[in-house]
Amino acid sequence: MNVVFLAPSYPPEMQQYTRGLAEVGANVFGVGDSARQALPKSLKPYLADYLQVPRIMDEDDVIKRVSAWLRGRRIDRILSNWEPLVILAARLRERFGLPGMSVDTVTGFRDKMLMKDRVKAAGLRVPYAFKVKSEREIREAAEKIGYPLILKPISGAGSADTYKVSSKAELESAIAAMRHVEVVSCEEFIDGEEFTYDTVCIDGKPAYENVASYLPPPLIARSNEWVSPVIITVRELDQPKIKPGIVLGRKVLKALGMGDGFTHMEWFLTKKGEAVFGEIGCRPGGAHLVDQMNYTGDVDLFREWARVACWKSFEGSTKRKYNAGIVFKRALGQGRITKITGLKDYMNRYGDYVVEEQLLRPGTMRRNWKQTLLSDGHLMIRHPNWDAAYKIAFAAATDVTLYAGG
Ligand SMILES: Nc1ncnc2c1ncn2[C@@H]1O[C@H](COP(=O)(O)OP(=O)(O)OP(=O)(O)O)[C@@H](O)[C@H]1O
Ligand SMILES: [Mg+2]
Repeated sequence: MNVVFLAPSYPPEMQQYTRGLAEVGANVFGVGDSARQALPKSLKPYLADYLQVPRIMDEDDVIKRVSAWLRGRRIDRILSNWEPLVILAARLRERFGLPGMSVDTVTGFRDKMLMKDRVKAAGLRVPYAFKVKSEREIREAAEKIGYPLILKPISGAGSADTYKVSSKAELESAIAAMRHVEVVSCEEFIDGEEFTYDTVCIDGKPAYENVASYLPPPLIARSNEWVSPVIITVRELDQPKIKPGIVLGRKVLKALGMGDGFTHMEWFLTKKGEAVFGEIGCRPGGAHLVDQMNYTGDVDLFREWARVACWKSFEGSTKRKYNAGIVFKRALGQGRITKITGLKDYMNRYGDYVVEEQLLRPGTMRRNWKQTLLSDGHLMIRHPNWDAAYKIAFAAATDVTLYAGG
């Protein structure tokens, strides 16, 4: 089994998928823009070969270079688990006539408007939305949708340039703030809780399923620096609150023609108990979500994904043992971290439930919280009981504080 895996070293969790591929018996041919000498030592044993390209996002250039590199070799799979490269992987598969999702199918997971159209055409509930390209079109769409509404880029990530608009005046200031965004989605604001629905699929059928709860919704977490965003996987999936999202998710996978591999969907639960589609990618969630799922059931999804991608087989346990919560911290002040307070007390109380503590240490520069949900580090906890997991996670949000500055 010869597998081309795009970007095997960056983002860092890609190294885990590379390991997984090697562990299920694949020869991994990595393609990335990191220098060969700069690849982590721990990664090297898992790579059969590596091609460094100047720009991994330059699809035409990468296709040319990979084609030359692979001449004379037999390749069985071309894979990527990183959102910006899923189309490139599909283009390469088509170029070499390899199995896997086509460019058209993958585009349904990449283009937010096409995605919504396909999901809506299957009779599923999506926010009422318009794709708009000019200020006039935004105002017209707003008339039709009413307030509150959401303005966001069609191809956004990380809640960048996303605005909740509650009045005409707010619409005008959002329009001004979004002038640099070419294509905008103007949509009905869905008032509700937000969750993920994550899977590892074989031929579009989930071999593994997960739901995680966003506390608070990502837009609020990404707009307010004082918030310590919390995400908790839901151990008990078979409950009235969660079921509608799973039912929706399975139908979405069918509507979009999912094949093999990870999916990461976001959905809303309204007060009436209705599940509304948010968005979906045909790749795993980022920000340690796969680690969280692994802690939920003591599984290794890095490896099980690889088994699915190579052999269409999933051998991990689907038994859910814990609610696993991650808490991202943001320091008060700018510059370098100076101190952490409350951590000792917290560990004394809840240390038994803490599975990871990766807060940035004093002396380290703060990360840009707008650019990365990882912020200034995280704590990961788990507990079999939801209320206990919730309490332990929120204690880390409120009782542990990082300071920065001088
Ligand atoms: N129609 C909507 N109604 C209510 N909230 C919305 C709506 N669309 C987006 N949001 C809010 O904005 C956030 C970001 O939107 P979305 O997930 O579509 O974009 P993104 O930038 O790709 O997100 P990500 O942070 O997952 O990369 C959502 O998680 C949600 O909190
Ligand atoms: Mg999102």
